[in-house]
Amino acid sequence: MTYEELMQKAVEASKNSYSPYSKFAVGACVLTEDDSVYTGCNFENSSFGMTICAERNAIGSAIADGKRKIKAVAIYSPNQDNCTPCGACRQVIHEFCENDNDVDIILKNGEGLKIYTLAQLLPESWNL
Ligand code: THU
Repeated sequence: MTYEELMQKAVEASKNSYSPYSKFAVGACVLTEDDSVYTGCNFENSSFGMTICAERNAIGSAIADGKRKIKAVAIYSPNQDNCTPCGACRQVIHEFCENDNDVDIILKNGEGLKIYTLAQLLPESWNL
């Protein structure tokens, strides 16, 4: 699947966002090592701390399907160009990759795409 197609799936997923409190919709699409794709959207809760980001929702589906290695994540918000993953999601993506240099984070940049490696977005990542 191309990065444009991954982004299109993230766009579609953002339409299912449950974000009545922030009104900030996000969709994500994860590409795993075996070229499977998993989508997710953010879903909020009136107890604000329980909100789940789109990226972690998509990663949860991949994990539940037995996948453990992420190759790329596309992220989209209709509210913000270049919507980057929050710090928590960067660390969760890191958990499921072997090398942060090999994971692409794909953002919508105007009509095109902007691509970072996870290493660029999460330097000196935490490891146990
Ligand atoms: N959000 C995401 O879905 N992903 C991120 O990486 C950052 C933030 C969501 C959480 C919340 O529902 C809304 O965006 C505003 O913070």
